[in-house]
Amino acid sequence: MADDTSEQSAPSADASIDHAAAIRYWNGITPTVNGMLGGYPHVSRIDLQGSKTFLAKLRLKSSTHPKTKPLSRVVDCGAGIGRITAGFLSNVAEVVDIVEPVKKFTNVITEGDDFRELREKGRIGKVYNQGLEDWEPVNTYDLIWNQWCLGQLTDAQLVQYLLRSKTTLTKGGWIVVKENTSTDPAGKDIFDEEDNSVTRHDQSSMRLFNQAGLQVVATELQKGFPKALYPVRIYALQPES
Ligand SMILES: C[S@@+](CC[C@H](N)C(=O)[O-])C[C@H]1O[C@@H](n2cnc3c(N)ncnc32)[C@H](O)[C@@H]1O
Repeated sequence: MADDTSEQSAPSADASIDHAAAIRYWNGITPTVNGMLGGYPHVSRIDLQGSKTFLAKLRLKSSTHPKTKPLSRVVDCGAGIGRITAGFLSNVAEVVDIVEPVKKFTNVITEGDDFRELREKGRIGKVYNQGLEDWEPVNTYDLIWNQWCLGQLTDAQLVQYLLRSKTTLTKGGWIVVKENTSTDPAGKDIFDEEDNSVTRHDQSSMRLFNQAGLQVVATELQKGFPKALYPVRIYALQPES
């Protein structure tokens, strides 16, 4: 008789995600760009430039959010110390909301000198100290930016989060996802034991976007990163019409 257990498929990588362990890990990381980028702080400049160019191309084709006027309100999700808010989002939007579960990271935004001017001008909006799996957005957004953080959510949590986010988009707004991509030849996602996250394969990401009723309106690979790093793919998503 065949051994049934040998026929069962292996658990998916996201089954290993443990939020408490992830938060313990991030709480042990220094609140610096080096800490956010795992020892590769020098990629920040090229990353921010790539994001800026990607958004500019989206806005070139947009009748609702053209480059001629600033975006009204955007949100930096899994924001860490606000590296992306400081270096990119605050240059394109009037107000940036923040979602980040680790308080010592958001303290940099709410108390640090680098953000004083933005705070005093009211350009930092609501700061949510929670994980995206728990976040219930109340504002509407022209742009929801998710970078190097969605791997902290299980597949089911990610779909639910995207479904919630989708309803908060203004007409013609975008959800942007910029994440490491698994290069597994069999298309598998990879679990990272260090920060308790999943690196998804492009096929997995596409399947989950589809489940959330989102279509990819633009996508490209980030150029110019060190070869030692995973390829980083950026997706712009909008509700399926
Ligand atoms: C690699 S850092 C990236 C930070 C920022 N997005 C950047 O690119 O500079 C990952 C961030 O995800 C945050 N994070 C961990 N678990 C999360 C969760 N469940 N929801 C949202 N963010 C989470 C971490 O605290 C950390 O700030």
